[in-house]
Amino acid sequence: MSSIDKSSTFKLGSRTVKRLGYGAMQLAGPGVFGPPKDPDAARAVLRAAVAAGVNHIDTSDYYGPHVTNRLIREALHPYPDDLVIVTKVGARRGDDGAWLPAFTPAELVQQVHDNLRNLGRDAIDVVNLRSMFGHMEPGEGSLEPQVTALAELQHQGLVRHIGVSSVTRTQLAEARRLCPIVCVQNHYNVAHRNGDALIDGLARDGIAYVPFFPLGGFTPLQSSTLSDVAQRLGVTPMQTALAWLLRRSPNVLLIPGTSSVAHLRENLAVADLHLPQDAMAALDGIAAPAGAR
Ligand SMILES: NC(=O)c1ccc[n+]([C@@H]2O[C@H](COP(=O)([O-])OP(=O)(O)OC[C@H]3O[C@@H](n4cnc5c(N)ncnc54)[C@H](OP(=O)(O)O)[C@@H]3O)[C@@H](O)[C@H]2O)c1
Repeated sequence: MSSIDKSSTFKLGSRTVKRLGYGAMQLAGPGVFGPPKDPDAARAVLRAAVAAGVNHIDTSDYYGPHVTNRLIREALHPYPDDLVIVTKVGARRGDDGAWLPAFTPAELVQQVHDNLRNLGRDAIDVVNLRSMFGHMEPGEGSLEPQVTALAELQHQGLVRHIGVSSVTRTQLAEARRLCPIVCVQNHYNVAHRNGDALIDGLARDGIAYVPFFPLGGFTPLQSSTLSDVAQRLGVTPMQTALAWLLRRSPNVLLIPGTSSVAHLRENLAVADLHLPQDAMAALDGIAAPAGAR
């Protein structure tokens, strides 16, 4: 048994994944645009993740664009049977690296085909529809045409499961009326807790919540409380932030991103990290829970 098995598992549609996964966005070049400086090092991170027992990798064809998916294919194809690759559609990159909406049904269909080709798969395990009504926070707007387009691809067998990303509760409810939704991927971490009520509702319904920016993303988490708790436990602040997420709810799946094997190992080591109740309480205090706002 690899040590990450201690982080337990959760259902993602018909598949079961370990709760400690890996987010591949950091493998592309600076600004998630173009190739990385050292593609061998990027492929080594992917191989190290799978060798350590990771069976859930999060990606998108707009990372690079195409770069991250091609690295995944080069490093891991033919894929282990238990590996679940989750991608997302809804955006494209401008010539200058800008993140632009690509959100019409026809664009989404094209993006699913781009993912299939670049990943070298016949079907995608999970496709997240990335709502582009907001930037890092969700904005309202109907997702019906987009979800319907993905549901059609699911009928064709090209997409096994559908998730949604950066969505409001209204958008999630609309999507769930149109087809089964297996996961929600929104911005959430120990210091940014807009998703609190949503997580608990999804847990009751057996739907995975996959926080993006679990370590703060482009602005790494910094908090004296996080540092104090980490010091007391003899671990790093990043490990402490991930351990808090693991304890937050059993339906929370982690996809921390890193371009470094050393950071990957550090992140996966949280499977063994027990957060005592007083540490949990201190960390809970970093951000006011949604109900208190
Ligand atoms: N749905 C969406 O809109 C959306 C948006 C953003 C991201 N995502 C997904 O979420 C995944 C995770 O998000 P993310 O990668 O943006 O942010 P993140 O996991 O919160 O943080 C990544 C940053 O933390 C650093 N880091 C990782 N482990 C570390 C450690 N142990 N010690 C110190 N620094 C560490 C990384 O640098 P190093 O490379 O130096 O380790 C990188 O700068 C992405 O890979 C992507 O798949 C989805």
